[in-house]
Amino acid sequence: MARPLPRRLALFCVLASCIALALAAGTTRPSRRGLAVGDSQDGGASDVGVGGGGGYDDSLMPRPAPSSEPRACQFENERLYRAYLVIQKFRKTVICDPKGVTATWAGTDLCGSYKGFFCGRPINVSDRTVASVDLNGFNLRSDSLQGFVDGLPDLALFHANSNSFGGAVPNLRGLQYFYELDLSNNKLAPAPFPTDVLGLTNATFIDIRFNSFFGELPAGLFGSFPEVEAIFVNNNRFSGQLPDNLGDSPVNYLSLANNDFTGPIPSSIGRAAGTLLEVLFLNNSLGGCLPYELGLLARATVIDAGTNRLTGTIPLSYACLRSVEQLNLADNLLYGVVHDSLCRLAYDGRLANLTLSGNYFTWLGPCCWDLVREGKLNVDRNCILWAPNQRSFHECAQFFHDNWSRMTCPVSKYVPCHPKWYAVDAASAREEPAAAEEYKYRTYSALHP
Ligand SMILES: *[C@@H]1O[C@H](CO)[C@@H](O)[C@H](O)[C@H]1NC(C)=O
Ligand SMILES: *[C@@H]1O[C@H](CO)[C@@H](O)[C@H](O)[C@H]1NC(C)=O
Ligand SMILES: *[C@@H]1O[C@H](CO)[C@@H](O)[C@H](O)[C@H]1NC(C)=O
Ligand SMILES: *[C@@H]1O[C@H](CO)[C@@H](O)[C@H](O)[C@H]1NC(C)=O
Ligand SMILES: *[C@@H]1O[C@H](CO)[C@@H](O)[C@H](O)[C@H]1NC(C)=O
Repeated sequence: MARPLPRRLALFCVLASCIALALAAGTTRPSRRGLAVGDSQDGGASDVGVGGGGGYDDSLMPRPAPSSEPRACQFENERLYRAYLVIQKFRKTVICDPKGVTATWAGTDLCGSYKGFFCGRPINVSDRTVASVDLNGFNLRSDSLQGFVDGLPDLALFHANSNSFGGAVPNLRGLQYFYELDLSNNKLAPAPFPTDVLGLTNATFIDIRFNSFFGELPAGLFGSFPEVEAIFVNNNRFSGQLPDNLGDSPVNYLSLANNDFTGPIPSSIGRAAGTLLEVLFLNNSLGGCLPYELGLLARATVIDAGTNRLTGTIPLSYACLRSVEQLNLADNLLYGVVHDSLCRLAYDGRLANLTLSGNYFTWLGPCCWDLVREGKLNVDRNCILWAPNQRSFHECAQFFHDNWSRMTCPVSKYVPCHPKWYAVDAASAREEPAAAEEYKYRTYSALHP
């Protein structure tokens, strides 16, 4: 007590006055009434030696709260007391709680008995405090998160998947330790991308999928987060062009699926070669030529640009996708030859599932036929002679006739990799278990609410 750190001074004063008050109250047994809420236990408070307090002279302190409310001095520290007040205020706004979760949000033991709340010590802070809130799957309903998430200043993680939280995304800029935001599958008010989120410069995880956001993505989404690992914005109503700087983000897992993006896949994507592991462009209205730069993503295991309006031929650079396991280009307007070098990735690389169905390809390399037979390549609904389940002759002829003048995509023959790369990887590739299960991939898992 002799030389308390300045930042803890205020707390010590609070505790000291509580102890003094408790002593002044003499030998009175601490009243338990302040803690007798539900079945919560008097856990944390006793750690600092003032647990069970409350036997002090009431007249010395203002008593705005009803008698069942625990008081500041009964909490392990002041941060937890402040968090308590914030949680209680939020609790009153929860209008639906089918799992009875909020019944546990009572008493002083925030770190032990409150379901969904987890404590930790921020860097250079000796007090325990609410560091993480995980309400995933609780099905809570509240019209607003304002004053709750942003009212917990030491929060690092907020996970609220599959609840019915409404209103706007709270402004979390004041939360200096914050890095994981998951608001997926809620009922947030339809709105443009919440630009306050761009202030979370230390964010590693941004997940707002399955909501009703609309409008364009801001360029800041790919420029503001130097540490970001995952960005999931799938299943919203975003539209417009993807920002040109998309490839500048160090993101590992990126899902843009099931929106209404238009325009091309930005060629900057090639700059993400060292970091991007999975990317979903699936089910938008992206157009233009399939970019050569996708073939530079040497570390990517999942590349999915299916169900768009992409056109052109598959650039030879795609033979350099030595890590790719799932490559989906189905249901686009692609045409031309599927080269042997791409299909060889199933033998020399890690390719397990190549889906090219619903395009206008006309020719397969010999290796590709083997893949079709092995069930690893789907070329249904194309224009490939001798292959099963193809489009009618008429449909194919129509496509080439109607679009002949528009078939202006560059045919890039440049292969930006050396075949010898594979020899090294091939052995380890064969040791990997078959890459079949969808849930193995983080972005594909993100397509389920
Ligand atoms: C924590 O404290 C140490 C020593 O005072 C200091 O060097 C360091 O920068 C502090 N870290 C943070 C994140 O404040
Ligand atoms: C990000 O973290 C650094 C170091 O921990 C900190 O100094 C900075 O304030 C944080 N940024 C924000 C916006 O909280
Ligand atoms: C594709 O996206 C549209 C919205 O853009 C959506 O209505 C549709 O359900 C999506 N398809 C699938 C299979 O998810
Ligand atoms: C090409 O032709 C088909 C009809 O055969 C049409 O549906 C499609 O929109 C045309 N445009 C492009 C860019 O492929
Ligand atoms: C292969 O990929 C397609 C398109 O993403 C998917 O529909 C199919 O289920 C996948 N097949 C396997 C066996 O993973």
